[in-house]
Amino acid sequence: MQNSLPRLNLSTTHKQMGKKVAQQIAKLVTDKPDAVIGLATGSTPDPMYKELIRMHKENGLDFSRVRFFNLDEYVGLPYDRPQSYHYEMREKFFKHINAKPENIHIPDGMAEDLQAACADYEKAIRDAGGIDLQILGIGETGHIGFNEPGTPFDAITHISRLSEKTRADNARFFGGDKNKVPTQAITMGLKTITAAKQIILMANGEHKGNIVREAMTTTPNQEVPASILQQVADKVTFFLDRAAAKHFKPYQQLFSVR
Ligand code: F6R
Repeated sequence: MQNSLPRLNLSTTHKQMGKKVAQQIAKLVTDKPDAVIGLATGSTPDPMYKELIRMHKENGLDFSRVRFFNLDEYVGLPYDRPQSYHYEMREKFFKHINAKPENIHIPDGMAEDLQAACADYEKAIRDAGGIDLQILGIGETGHIGFNEPGTPFDAITHISRLSEKTRADNARFFGGDKNKVPTQAITMGLKTITAAKQIILMANGEHKGNIVREAMTTTPNQEVPASILQQVADKVTFFLDRAAAKHFKPYQQLFSVR
């Protein structure tokens, strides 16, 4: 199995990083109008979504045939709640572009049969021909999607238990109350994610510096879920802002343009 360093693409600011990733997405959509794109929620991709919306409105970037698959959704959080990823994605991105509702896929955390919802999601990705480009953020626990430490590398879409650290980190979206953060989520698994043809992991801010370094340099192991990306490094690029790249010196020498 291959183990090497994913490519690095460094930006000065969070905003610049988001714009660069939006350009990668725009290029894919232009080359392949029915591309399958995996998306993430949270704060990290905010500037990316803003730039994609701008490109749609000002340059006519066409999403009408693009198929979207989000990484995850909380279990048991109704979709009319602003913290649900269905709500977040609609407000932050989908309602501003021309994506077709039938092309938007987000795991069904409100399903009566959650196991069946996981299996259906995995099948829908397969039926779409697999993910062309997966966008990822990274949690301070090293999670990608909601694959927390200890998740087997061969996991497919499944129900995950959120770590206490992740619930505390996400309390900022729930009025600061960690107890309001759901304890479970449906998430694409690590195997689902690493099957994507191209992967972009984004991280910004000093608080992500340590985990980004670990993900890139520790021997791949289940305690640092994002370290699995080293095993597929040839198709992975880490887009970092200056603060998240604080452990990578000298800064300029590592700057790689693709
Ligand atoms: C979100 C997701 C998570 C986040 C991660 C970082 O769909 O899968 O892995 O990407 O928790 O969150 P932020 O960007 O809020 O720091």
